This record gives sequence, structure tokens and C-alpha cells, in this order.
Amino acid sequence: MDPVYLVTGGAGFIGSNLVHLLCRERPGARVVVYDALTYAGNLDNLEPVRGHAGFELVEGDLCDRALLAATLERVRPTVIFNLAAESHVDRSIDGPAAFVRTNVLGTFELCEAVRAHLRALEPTAREAFRLLHVSTDEVYGSLGPTGLFTETTAYAPNSPYAASKASADHFVRAYHETFGVPTLVTNCSNNYGPYQFPEKLVPVVVLNALEHKALPVYGDGRNVRDWLYVEDHARALLCVAERGVPGEHYNIGGNSERTNLEMVRALCTALDELVPAPELAGGYYALVTFVKDRPGHDRRYAIDASKVARELGFRPGVDFASGIRRTVAWYLEHREWCRRIGEGSSRRERLGLGA
Ligand SMILES: NC(=O)c1ccc[n+]([C@@H]2O[C@H](COP(=O)([O-])OP(=O)(O)OC[C@H]3O[C@@H](n4cnc5c(N)ncnc54)[C@H](O)[C@@H]3O)[C@@H](O)[C@H]2O)c1
Repeated sequence: MDPVYLVTGGAGFIGSNLVHLLCRERPGARVVVYDALTYAGNLDNLEPVRGHAGFELVEGDLCDRALLAATLERVRPTVIFNLAAESHVDRSIDGPAAFVRTNVLGTFELCEAVRAHLRALEPTAREAFRLLHVSTDEVYGSLGPTGLFTETTAYAPNSPYAASKASADHFVRAYHETFGVPTLVTNCSNNYGPYQFPEKLVPVVVLNALEHKALPVYGDGRNVRDWLYVEDHARALLCVAERGVPGEHYNIGGNSERTNLEMVRALCTALDELVPAPELAGGYYALVTFVKDRPGHDRRYAIDASKVARELGFRPGVDFASGIRRTVAWYLEHREWCRRIGEGSSRRERLGLGA
């Protein structure tokens, strides 16, 4: 039987990359996106799959249990990928309530809807069903200069965003332990690549550079993140959905630790190659401007992704250098996407300095 995927948050950055992958690699599958189309949800991201026979978009809120229940009953998904979320740390500093609503209450509503739905299924369908909840490495807090987050690292979220994701992860875990819902949780490091909303570091740097605007780097720029090309994350999610053991957590990472400054330098080097700007002495990197740090800015995140490699055979396929080139090339080739998203709510303005 062909799979039926329900992707919440499928119009966002990672969700849309996942939807493209599912339509491409599982051509017989039905792929239903459930998305509230907030400022971060973009119908343009779904343009490449509009003509796919099994594709459907349901405009809906994760907090709307009645619509969720009706959608589950009608669509009868075999796998739900939960990516719907408020995802920007800076916004969570300015307005945490939306993060509690969508990330905590929304995930809770989804768990409840799934629990009720599973009761109505015949045993074989219940056995085969999976709820894959997509989370972040930020739930683990900040690392010193050494060490890696493993699946058994204690949660210590520092930002309202991370706290809301941690809470959601705990609910998903509890629904497995208490009600036997077949859940999977993935905790992934920073993603970069096509279709990212221009409020995050990578698209802000690329788009500002093209307009010769300042490239804002928080604090001293030495905060370290592990970076994963978004298509690799999408492949990892499909792998976990198909091979993961219910109740388990899986860390996903790119084995590519970089300081923010190193990330900005890599993007500028790719831009210098692809769109040389001789009028900028020193190239695009000369546009770097250090700005006030984010309050509570975690110093370092790093992922031990050996469990997903050892147990499920997943390894990232795109190394950092080629991922960066592909990303910059994508934004250059999709100027219309950039223009349209720039006309919406994105002004690439500074957020998240607190009151
Ligand atoms: N971006 C990263 O680097 C990263 C890394 C690890 C984990 N994650 C997690 O992956 C998931 C997706 O992240 P992203 O970067 O693609 O986010 P995004 O902000 O680009 O997309 C979020 C999507 O969720 C939708 N959404 C928001 N609130 C909703 C609601 N109440 N009901 C239904 N839909 C709603 C939005 O419309 C949007 O399409 C999130 O759960 C995030 O925490 C992201």
C-alpha cells in the first residue's frame, strides 16, 4: 500500500523541502500539507509540487482540534510529520506567547487528535502508523568548547523558543509512554538551503549582500552551530519515519560545526565567486557589521549523530562547502521568490533584543 503523508508546517522552510522530497522519492504516495500559512508559510514554496497527483493543501491551524480530527479521518495518514511551529528564536524573545500556543498547545492538540484517531483504526493500520515530531538541538541548552549532545543529554532550554520545543517533545514522549502512540522525535541542528524565510542568518546574509547592505553578525560572531543542508534533513526524516523505532529519539546533524562568522565568510566567498562585486573592496565580507548580541545567546551546539547512522544507516550526503554553493546559487536563481517574499512581512529587520 502506498504511504499517505500528512506534513504539518509543510509550507515552511524544512516542511516544503520535505514535501518536495516525498513527492519525488515516493511518487505513488499521497502528500497532504496541513499549514496555517503564518508569515513563515509560503505558497510559493509548494509551487514545484502543485501538479503532483497526490498533493493536497489543507489550510489549518495546529490548535484547531476539530479540523485536525476531520483531516485525519478523511486523509487517514500512515505517517504524520509534525513541523508546524513558530521557529525563530528572536521572535520568541519579543513575543513568547505565540510559541507557547503553536509549539506547546498545538503539539498537544495534535497528540490528542492522533490518540483519538488511532482508537478508531483497525490493529494493522494502528501498528503501521507513525507520528514523527520534528524538534531541535536547542532543547539541550549550551555546550562549552568540547562535548556533543547525545539522545540522553538532559534538556536545558534557554530561549522561549527552545523551552516551547522542549515542552512539545515531552508531550510527544508522554503520549508514547502513557497511551502507546507510536511516536518518533528527531532533534536536528541548524538547517540551511533553499526556501528559508529571510529572517534567519543564511538568507539574511545572502539577500543583504546582493543589495550591498550590512551583514549583521550578533555579538563577537563566535557562537558555534552545527549546520546541515536542508535536503539532508528531509532525507533523515523520511529515513526515521520508515526505519525508526517508536518511542525513540534521534539526533540529526551535519558534522559541520562553524562559528557564525565562519558561516558568513563561507557565504561571502561563494557570493564573490558567483556574483563578483569588484566595487566592494575586500568582497562581500567587507559588509560584515557586528551588532548587539541576542540576550541569552547559547554559545555552542554540537550534535552526536552516530545513533541515526549506526541504527538506521543515515548519513548526510551534502558536505558544507557544496551545500553553501548550492544554497547561494539557489537564491541567485530564484530572485522572483526572493522578491515576492520580500514584499510580504519580511523586512529583514532586527528582532529579539527583548524589552
Ligand atoms: N530551521 C532550522 O534550522 C531547524 C532546525 C531544527 C529543527 N527545526 C524545527 O523544524 C520545524 C520546521 O522549521 P522551519 O525552519 O521549517 O520553520 P518555518 O518557520 O520556516 O515554518 C513553519 C511552518 O509552520 C506553519 N505554522 C506555524 N504555526 C502554525 C500553526 N499554528 N498551525 C499550522 N501551521 C503553522 C507556518 O505557516 C510555516 O509554514 C520546526 O518545528 C522547527 O522547530 C528547525
